[in-house]
Amino acid sequence: MRKHLEVDSAEQMRDFGISLAAQLRVGDLLLLDGPLGAGKTFLAQHILRALHVQGEVTSPTFVMMKSYQGDFSINHIDAYRLLDLANPGQAFEELDIEIESSLTIIEWGKQFDLTGAGLHVAIEIGEGESRTLAISGSDARWSELVI
Ligand SMILES: Nc1ncnc2c1ncn2[C@@H]1O[C@H](COP(=O)(O)OP(=O)(O)O)[C@@H](O)[C@H]1O
Ligand SMILES: [Mg+2]
Repeated sequence: MRKHLEVDSAEQMRDFGISLAAQLRVGDLLLLDGPLGAGKTFLAQHILRALHVQGEVTSPTFVMMKSYQGDFSINHIDAYRLLDLANPGQAFEELDIEIESSLTIIEWGKQFDLTGAGLHVAIEIGEGESRTLAISGSDARWSELVI
């Protein structure tokens, strides 16, 4: 599955997050990429909200990973600081994330799709609030995704 989505505003990005959240389930891996300020955390926040996570949802940049309980268990990871390490893959494995029992959302995540079953969302920044999303996933799981 490979699609492009043009997003004109932050509201549209929120709506994309809500639509995606309705289709995500336990065991899924969502990898968000794009430069600083692209909207990775923004998108993750709206997915978490749509899955009924209560309370404050902040960027996990400084803690690497935050775990939430909404409709199910969700881990929100910011892998930015792993990218500089000699062996990011190994450092990531040491986080020991329980992929099978949670929804896992990883910012700066493209190189951490260890199972190859993840859904990739690459966000490109346009003018103002516009963003271009490249959405892809090679696993059959994603062929049914409605965007
Ligand atoms: N279309 C859009 N999608 C997502 N965020 C947007 C959009 N337009 C403006 N923004 C703003 O851009 C910022 C994105 O920041 P953030 O989500 O922290 O980026 P990242 O995690 O990719 O570094 C937010 O302040 C958000 O309000
Ligand atoms: Mg972020």
